[in-house]
Amino acid sequence: MLIAGNWKMNTDLPRGVELAENIAAGIDEADSTYEALDFAVCPPFVHLQAVGAALQDSPVALGAQDVHAEEEGAFTSDVAAPMLTSAGCTHVIIGHSERRQYYDETDAEVNRKARQARRHDLVPIICVGETIDQRRSGDAESVVHAQLEGALDGVTVEAADDLIIAYEPVWAIGTGESATPEQAQDMHAVIRDDLSERYGTDVADQIEILYGGSMKPHNAHALLSQPDVTGGLIGSASLEAESFLGIADEAAAVFEERE
Ligand code: 13P
Repeated sequence: MLIAGNWKMNTDLPRGVELAENIAAGIDEADSTYEALDFAVCPPFVHLQAVGAALQDSPVALGAQDVHAEEEGAFTSDVAAPMLTSAGCTHVIIGHSERRQYYDETDAEVNRKARQARRHDLVPIICVGETIDQRRSGDAESVVHAQLEGALDGVTVEAADDLIIAYEPVWAIGTGESATPEQAQDMHAVIRDDLSERYGTDVADQIEILYGGSMKPHNAHALLSQPDVTGGLIGSASLEAESFLGIADEAAAVFEERE
């Protein structure tokens, strides 16, 4: 189970470092409560090195929020995979709906980025999810299928071993209105089936499928208790150590109950 924070375009550098320090202090390696869980934070690019230093002795992994598909070159303002790995990143969010919505990022670009991430041993957290209109018109599943199809084209079974999918219904992001546990489970099961067809059940069962969209301490337990929801991608609740750690506690409780 992975609990990952997507800080988006929030926090200045001192505040980001303080947040990372507080999260690291809460998720102490010596504390067995969180032993079975994985954690990551994905701060803005300019914070990566300093936040990485703040996380150095903690089990919390460092992720970025995007990556360019090329190795290097004349792509002003973009950030390449070798830059991320050399700054200490192990994870990278790809195809977040805000990238798709505001920068017209296509499934083909998501695919190129995902393959580039794998070439550099970065674990891509590939985001998929439908808009409210697509859900209302009954197209949610077909939209998510098409996004998976586009994103995973040419991503081999070996590479699939280390990839993560995040189901983030666009209508639940930043709205305070999360999907219900049943809605999340239904879509996660669809995603799991799609991955099984693509990679076989053994590989598919190992792939983390995170839920994202207004996950908070008060609803995390119900969402994370769903059999195919194996973690969370947290936006605004990851900007305070207390709420991020509150979700971590719920995840630990769910893990304990599953054992
Ligand atoms: P919120 O938790 O703020 O809804 O954001 C979710 C998200 O977009 C994480 O990537």
